[in-house]
Amino acid sequence: MALTEEDLRQLPEDGIDPENPGQYQGLLEDLQGNILKGHGRDYSVHLFLQFQPDRTQEVKQWIQNFAQTYLKSAKQQSDEALRYRQEKVSGGVFANLFLSRYGYEYLEIEPYQIPTDQPFRLGMKNENIRTALGDPKIETWETGFQNQIHALVLIADDDIISLLQIVNRETQQIRQIADIIHREDGFILRNQTGQIIEHFGFVDGVSQPLFLKRDIVSAGINDCGFSQWDSRAALDIVLVKDPNGKTEDSYGSYLVYRKLEQNVKAFRQDQEQLAKNLKIKDELAGALIVGRFYDGTPVTLSDMPTFSNMPTNNFNYEHDSAATKCPFHAHIRKTNPRGDTGKVESSPGFDEALEVERTHRIARRAVSYGTHDHRQEPEKDSGLLFLCFQADIENQFNFMQIRWANARNFVQVNVGPDPLIGQPEGTQKWPGIWGQPETVDYNFKLWVNMKGGEYFFTPSISFLKNI
Ligand code: HEM
Repeated sequence: MALTEEDLRQLPEDGIDPENPGQYQGLLEDLQGNILKGHGRDYSVHLFLQFQPDRTQEVKQWIQNFAQTYLKSAKQQSDEALRYRQEKVSGGVFANLFLSRYGYEYLEIEPYQIPTDQPFRLGMKNENIRTALGDPKIETWETGFQNQIHALVLIADDDIISLLQIVNRETQQIRQIADIIHREDGFILRNQTGQIIEHFGFVDGVSQPLFLKRDIVSAGINDCGFSQWDSRAALDIVLVKDPNGKTEDSYGSYLVYRKLEQNVKAFRQDQEQLAKNLKIKDELAGALIVGRFYDGTPVTLSDMPTFSNMPTNNFNYEHDSAATKCPFHAHIRKTNPRGDTGKVESSPGFDEALEVERTHRIARRAVSYGTHDHRQEPEKDSGLLFLCFQADIENQFNFMQIRWANARNFVQVNVGPDPLIGQPEGTQKWPGIWGQPETVDYNFKLWVNMKGGEYFFTPSISFLKNI
């Protein structure tokens, strides 16, 4: 029997177990991987395609072949991960195929069968969307992104040589039916202790919505459960029915893609200046920007790093409701207020119950691009290829960027924008002394520069194999 909306709204207590999927088997077998859990490969190549005019049949044939050869379902992804754990046999290459609204139109899918999400239908270059997000003018985006994008192919592997061989081979195939209008090469950046970081040097990818049993059980053990923050999430925050799926449990997910350049040198200088103004150490200034120290320690819990190899995610801001330890503007407090927006009456429009607040969560799957040596402090050409999955772009990524990160008023008035990603930049209020109520005004400049992007849908595998 097909899954119901209720089945997607209710997560089994321990999450979904792909080794023992029960009623979710069909869903996991037809859903592309990387949505419920990151594919985890170290290297990835992103190819942005514009299909050649009047080649619809050939394009469909290529999609079928690509899906047959490369796409891995959520079930396969998990089976391979299990094999790796048990027998150290690598899962090898991983791939996703995403379509934009223009891709659907090119493929002559009936309008009523094109996924309905509003921003997806309008596209990221739409003027209303662009101005709402605070994005720079399209003419300043990298040229590839200025074109109409039909599809995005993601190919990833731990073995870079093998990845590049596959990409070369596929590129030749693709060139017969499409122009590769843009390419990005992504990789996982790590610090000396092997933790995943982004170019500014902070541990990244710590807090995620968790769907699968393995992730939930290990978070429960490593993080003493979910008493302060429940990172478990029901499937309906990332999945929607695929209107073109060929099975009764065919689902897909919306993908937001943004190339975010990071000016590391200027960021560090601004961080030093902030530290001087506040008369605090650099590392604490960094934590007041991000909400976590370089090593991932939440600044709401400590005024110094704790050097834990597994930063906690089981915390909230209840004991810090005046934001004297972790400022309201800090990146992780803005993008996941952990209950802040449910309680405060003084900010009309932001008084959401925790359950509603939790519906804005996204599944982040970002990778870095540019230099592999973050100590070089690049000023340009390095940054984050920001990817996130969700069921409703307006209510999730767009809401998070517009209503939380960009907003000056957030939980309280005049909090200021998120100093990492808030567009446009502005003045924030910084704790004069950690844990004390006095604040100092400082305009932390925006050192993340949006270079282009698009909204995509991740169709079910049965649709792509039978397109
Ligand atoms: C968390 C960096 C862009 C949403 C984090 C963390 C870091 C970070 C260091 C803390 C570690 C973690 O919990 O994973 C960056 C950088 C960005 C960027 C350097 C740009 C270059 C974005 C964007 C969004 C976003 C565009 C969405 C609008 C989030 C969310 C979290 C997070 C939801 C987890 C918050 C939590 O649950 O505590 N980011 N980020 N980030 N970021 Fe970003």
